[in-house]
Amino acid sequence: MANLRITLAGLDLDNPIMLASGILDSTPGILQRMAETGAGALITKSISLKPRPGYPGPTTVEIAPGTWINAMGLPNPGLEEFLNEFPLTTLSVPVIPNLVADTPDEFAKLAAGVAAAGAKIAEINLSCPHPKAAYGGSLTAQDPEAAAAVVAATTKHLPVIAKLTPNVADIGTVAVACARAGAAAISAINTLAALDVDPELERPLLGNGFGGLSGVAIRPIGLRKVLEIVQALNHANFDTPVIGMGGISSAEDVVRYLLCGAHSVQIGTSLTGDPEHMSAITRGLAEWMDRKGYRELADFRGRILEWFS
Ligand code: FUM
Repeated sequence: MANLRITLAGLDLDNPIMLASGILDSTPGILQRMAETGAGALITKSISLKPRPGYPGPTTVEIAPGTWINAMGLPNPGLEEFLNEFPLTTLSVPVIPNLVADTPDEFAKLAAGVAAAGAKIAEINLSCPHPKAAYGGSLTAQDPEAAAAVVAATTKHLPVIAKLTPNVADIGTVAVACARAGAAAISAINTLAALDVDPELERPLLGNGFGGLSGVAIRPIGLRKVLEIVQALNHANFDTPVIGMGGISSAEDVVRYLLCGAHSVQIGTSLTGDPEHMSAITRGLAEWMDRKGYRELADFRGRILEWFS
């Protein structure tokens, strides 16, 4: 019988499949609903120090079956309201707050706030592809030193998962910089920087103009980036766990990421409108392992690395 349990930065999880930040996680009620699907952990929508209203619509559009472009604008009620409203410690599965800010100091304040409220680990969003400040500039996770500075500032308060962007030439270097600064885990990939156009209205499809691409089309990019991160961490002698994401819509997709060396995964876009899809994927992973005769996740994790050694 397959054993799906994993430990992540000291946190015991029933299985390696987590809810990704930004989908079915923006209210306490929907988080409670997702806890009942058997997810290993739930990551919240990004929280900032002050409330953010988000961008004008349209904010999310399905541009091909299973492939979406979005620019929500990181809408959230701000740290204080988040801590009042959201169940950080009372659900049956761990809730991992996702934090977003413009400076290491702001990130540190958020980390201190959620740690004081009982969070055991946080994910830091270094990689939203369309913050206003990034137009013509760079994202935090496009600069290894900037990413490391945020990791160093936040790990003083609690273990952190550094969420990286695929919009970079060498994601391995950024991952190693984060690991060296003390990241408890690396998660990748956030969405790909994107633009789509409405030919009838002769304008960008999204209210914000630019957005991020997610869903089935980006899975091969996510797999390649995860593999590159795992290779770079191995080469630099770090055993920092990697959480893979991007285009996962089936148990086979979870297996694909684990074969590339991910310890665990996050699922977002494919759950849109169907929370129960999470339970089906988790069951499917156990069935795949049973059929293959694997008892532990470690029995097949990283198998694909042999092809590239
Ligand atoms: O627009 C958004 O809220 C997206 C955030 C992200 O991709 O990190």
